[in-house]
Amino acid sequence: MDWRIKPLDAILATAEKKALTRTLGPIQLTMLGVGAIIGTGIFVLTSEAAQKAGPGMMWAFVIAAFVCAVAALCYSEIASMVPVSGSAYTYTYAVMGELLAWMVGWALILEYAVAASAVSVGWSGYFIGLLNSWGIGFPHVLSVGPYADGIVNLPALIIALLVTLLLMIGTTESARVNAVLVAIKVTALTVFIVLTLPVMKGAEFEPFLPNGWIGTGFGSGLGAIGAAASIFFAYVGFDAVSTAAEETKNPQVNVPIGLIGSLVICTVFYLLVAAGAIGSIGAQPVTAIGGGVLAPGTPGLADRCQALAAAGTEPLVCSREALAHVLRQIGYERLGDLIGVAAFLALPSVILIMLFGQTRIFFVMARDGLLPEFLSAIHPKWKTPHVVTIITGVAVAFFAAFLPVGQLADISNSGTLFAFFMVALAVLILRRTQPNRRRPFRTPLLWLVGPLAILGTLGLYVSLPVEAMLVLPVWGGIGLVVYFAYGFRKSHVGRGIVETHEADDDAPPQAVPPIGEAHTPGYRDA
Ligand code: ALA
Repeated sequence: MDWRIKPLDAILATAEKKALTRTLGPIQLTMLGVGAIIGTGIFVLTSEAAQKAGPGMMWAFVIAAFVCAVAALCYSEIASMVPVSGSAYTYTYAVMGELLAWMVGWALILEYAVAASAVSVGWSGYFIGLLNSWGIGFPHVLSVGPYADGIVNLPALIIALLVTLLLMIGTTESARVNAVLVAIKVTALTVFIVLTLPVMKGAEFEPFLPNGWIGTGFGSGLGAIGAAASIFFAYVGFDAVSTAAEETKNPQVNVPIGLIGSLVICTVFYLLVAAGAIGSIGAQPVTAIGGGVLAPGTPGLADRCQALAAAGTEPLVCSREALAHVLRQIGYERLGDLIGVAAFLALPSVILIMLFGQTRIFFVMARDGLLPEFLSAIHPKWKTPHVVTIITGVAVAFFAAFLPVGQLADISNSGTLFAFFMVALAVLILRRTQPNRRRPFRTPLLWLVGPLAILGTLGLYVSLPVEAMLVLPVWGGIGLVVYFAYGFRKSHVGRGIVETHEADDDAPPQAVPPIGEAHTPGYRDA
């Protein structure tokens, strides 16, 4: 069988033409990682994790961080070997051939686009919280989708469209803006920790695992492991560090420092924030009147929360702006608002990064002939792939308008976990089939780390709620139909043409250049 493998040498030859300067050191790399990682996960999904696992969500943060760490180490080896700024899609094309590459690219659509929707919904929660806190009313039916007795999440829809517009006219974020946003996020989390830790009460941590490790069983998405599968979202973005491998001084040493460093820093922050939230106002799941477990994002939970609010109690799990809510509950009204402002300012940049990643993957897939070529058209004035950007943006806005944040994050995770699973497999295969190829970064203890990454991603995937788990095969099935109806015949590699469009001069640059803009051709400041 012809697997249609894109020759690695061709990719490398093209990539060499755009040799990048090695400028990044360990600290810059770590900051890059922290900037890409912190977002809706900690600011919003903390409530969801509490509903799934109670105080045991602390385990969720640790388990998800471990899986990310081993996956990240594998990702870095292949990112440094195939230094085109593509993604898992390109890596798979070069190792396992077109069909699997298509499936990975198709799954990455879930990762990036749906993640952008999730972050838009997260942003909306903070926006509405701020309005309420300032005494400005906003109709409930326009602030959530039908899952919580609303009609449409209008703020989420609008922010997704606004960010799409910015991307279409060629806005990217400068390294300086990124640094400021990192500082805002880290300061917000630090303030939260400093204010909550002194009022922590040990009793709030009991019972620690109200829903056990796997809730009512696999597929329920509950328990500490179910929460880990969701909270995995809070760590997504670390691949930004691997992708910058080619711009890193002494990558063998600095890439693992940047990756593990940013993951460790985020994990420590996340654990302290989680402990602060649990210990100060409690994090026990809200149960149905008869005592049954209620899943996040369901009308049942929304109704219970409304009833509790009417009775004057607002537990953590009912909040759509978890961190601001905790501070307000312990008496820091204004500082709660400031956390809200921090999320309001910083989250749109996470949407931008995610949407950007999406358009870039579409762009490369279209230029490879797997999607209609017109999708990769570049706007003559704005120099952006405006067609894919608008299509993606409208889809992102649609899902943000009607689905709850936790469900979106879970769906996004299913795509990400699949992509990381394939990357770990690809790294193991390449070590066997091409042992002598140059590897600027070699995963330490690959024969332990690789299988752990494979098992870890698989384990988290099967711990997702069954609906999110099913989305991947259904989406994959649609992908297969599209591939055989279109890409299989039109594929450039299939027709004997080998090109690597990831390095095209008019390919969109990175969303956030790691350090300066000098080496990113075509880059335009915000
Ligand atoms: N890790 C990013 C976030 O939590 C995707 O928003």
